[in-house]
Parts: sequence; structure tokens; C-alpha cells
Amino acid sequence: MKGLPLSKVYQLLEPGPVVLLTTAHKGHANIMAMSWHMMVEFEPPLIACVVSNANYSFAALRATKECVIAIPALELAPKVVGVGNCSGREMDKFKRFRLTPAPANRVAPPLVAECFANLECKVVDTRLVNEFNLFVLEVLKAWTDPAQKHPKTFHHHGYGRFAVDGEMIKLKSRKR
Ligand SMILES: Cc1cc2nc3c(=O)[nH]c(=O)nc-3n(C[C@H](O)[C@H](O)[C@H](O)COP(=O)(O)O)c2cc1C
Repeated sequence: MKGLPLSKVYQLLEPGPVVLLTTAHKGHANIMAMSWHMMVEFEPPLIACVVSNANYSFAALRATKECVIAIPALELAPKVVGVGNCSGREMDKFKRFRLTPAPANRVAPPLVAECFANLECKVVDTRLVNEFNLFVLEVLKAWTDPAQKHPKTFHHHGYGRFAVDGEMIKLKSRKR
């Protein structure tokens, strides 16, 4: 075995797909890329996520306590990486990356029409925001796009490297 720098540990464990997080604050909708998130509860679905306080999205999320998590398929990867490498402080990222905001049902931030799933969320716990920029979200409403039948997600391994969803296998599970 060979030692691994602690700075690289996250690349081994980063779990779910890269997602987009939208916010709306003072009439301005914004969007960022996010891969530091994890499920916390089945139902109602709770999701913990880290949104850096250096990001423009942080202030919007903290103030409005609402967001949408939009899950893009592989085809959107170049746009998602673009979205994750610039700030809504300086531009309208929906326009810049030709992504379509669509009205949500329960929250003010928009869905992203091109994504295969959209989750409307409210912030339900902020106890770890000051220490770790960690928000706990509850999903209020979930949407999927029936036209995207077998979307492949992509997963960040750091420094512009991504793993793409591979073969699906089915193993016995206690539940179903
Ligand atoms: C693949 C990828 C994953 C990212 N994951 C996160 C994340 O989990 N949390 C975070 O705060 N920023 C993350 N970022 C960085 C933000 O997306 C980036 O800082 C963004 O430009 C912030 O936009 P804003 O200033 O408009 O909010 C990620 C960027 C990329 C490209």
C-alpha cells in the first residue's frame, strides 16, 4: 500500500452524481455545480450538501432557504463544468450556458428543463452552516423527464476528471 495525501481522500468517496443547484434571490436566478451532497433520510427525502460561502449561491440559499437540485445526464457535462467554473455574481449563467429555467411548483428557484430530474427543496437545518457550510434540505416535490429514458450520470473525481455511470447490475436486497 502507498500513502495517499489527505487532500485526495475526497476523490475516493465523493458519492453521488454531479448536480446543479439553482437559487433565486432578489429577482435573480442563479445556478452552480455541486458534487458534495449525500442522502440523509428516505422519506421525506433529506439531503445534506456543502455550498461554499465563497459562492454567490451561498448567500441566496441562506437567505431564501430554497433551492432546486437538478440532475444532469452526461450530455450536459461540458455545460455543467462551465457553470461550476464561473460565478453568477458576474453573469446570468442560464443565458450564458443556454440552460432553460422552468417554473417550480413549491419554491421560487427554477427547475432546469434540460435535466432528467429536478428536486424542489427547502432548507430544514442550518446548524452546521457556520462551521461547515453544510445545509440539510428536504425535498418537497420531485420531477423526472420521461423523455430521458436511460440517463447516464457523471461523478467528480477531482481536477476535471469524471467517472460515467456504467453497467447496471441487480443484486438481492432485503427490501425488494
Ligand atoms: C464538478 C464540480 C463540482 C462542484 N461541487 C461543488 C460543491 O459540492 N460545493 C460547492 O460549494 N461548490 C462546488 N463546485 C464549485 C461551484 O460550482 C462554483 O464555485 C460555482 O462557480 C459557484 O457559482 P456561484 O458563485 O454563481 O454560486 C463544483 C464545481 C464543479 C465544476
